[in-house]
Amino acid sequence: MGYVENTQPNTEVLAKETLICPGFYTTNIKKLSSTDTSSFQGAFSTAIANLKKDYTKDKYIRDERFEQSWDHIQGEARELIIKLLEMYCAAEYSGFILYKELSSELKETNSVLSDGFSLMSRDEARHASFLNKALLDFHIKPGLGFLEKEHRKYIFLPFSWFIYSTYLSERISSCYYITIFEHLESYPEYSIYPIFGFYKSWSEDENRHGDFFGAIIKSELQLSNGLKAKLVCKFFLLLIFSMTYFKYKSNDKLLALLGLDAQEYYVSTIRKVNKSISKDLPVVLDFEKSQFFEELDICLLHISENEKINISNQNALLKWIRKIPHYSTILLVMLRLLIRSQTN
Ligand SMILES: [Fe+2]
Ligand SMILES: [Fe+2]
Repeated sequence: MGYVENTQPNTEVLAKETLICPGFYTTNIKKLSSTDTSSFQGAFSTAIANLKKDYTKDKYIRDERFEQSWDHIQGEARELIIKLLEMYCAAEYSGFILYKELSSELKETNSVLSDGFSLMSRDEARHASFLNKALLDFHIKPGLGFLEKEHRKYIFLPFSWFIYSTYLSERISSCYYITIFEHLESYPEYSIYPIFGFYKSWSEDENRHGDFFGAIIKSELQLSNGLKAKLVCKFFLLLIFSMTYFKYKSNDKLLALLGLDAQEYYVSTIRKVNKSISKDLPVVLDFEKSQFFEELDICLLHISENEKINISNQNALLKWIRKIPHYSTILLVMLRLLIRSQTN
């Protein structure tokens, strides 16, 4: 990839403000604060000690690799890289705000959790700020109005939904960062922007966050023990892995830009994550027995049929009636997966 000029863009003059839309979440704080951290003290101590070591403190430095203009990246490649940076910038800010607020809400009632969330918010702030600066390289200035609390709309997630989805998002993003990093190490010709070189440290940070949530899951009996816990866990794994897999269609161009096949990439990420989480969860999925990905492909066909119905010129009632058989099939597939996909 050739360099056009060796100067930093004048971001003050050129940057166009863009809206960054992080999601804001909250959950049952009372339940979270009653987490008995003493029953798995070892897991919490290790997770917090690792966070305190702050291994990646000096890793996110914009070195000489950034000291150039990125205006040679134009057209679709530029749009895609901006889409990637915006998407992750929003996700990192979302994590930063969530953990910062949880830390302060738990300060008086559960100091172990409060400490952990505070350390994780430090990491997410660092990630968000690095992405923020990367966007400025492309003359995009993220609008940070959401940092004012009154501009936020919160989504309340029931406790188990909150814990499983946040835990899995940490594990999935850790896997995302390391897979891209390792791929680009083997195929450096696709590394069109230096941020990918930081993905190893990034992945390690997210993995430490996953370890902290793993300790919470282990110490919450309703999440880790018994038949009900297994069923709930399996339900969330199915839901979150399915939603992750369905994203491959919308991210195919982005991953192709990095030299990756989107479907293969998502299948391998989900498989790796499923393997890595068995140490924390009461159950993981058996993809072979359930023909997981084949079944999800059937769902994708029906989702696409519904999308075609959505853009047709028929009236709303007729559209709705025509969509019912597709929704029914998707529901049946999910039920089939729920019954078949357990390993232990
Ligand atoms: Fe992060
Ligand atoms: Fe994280």
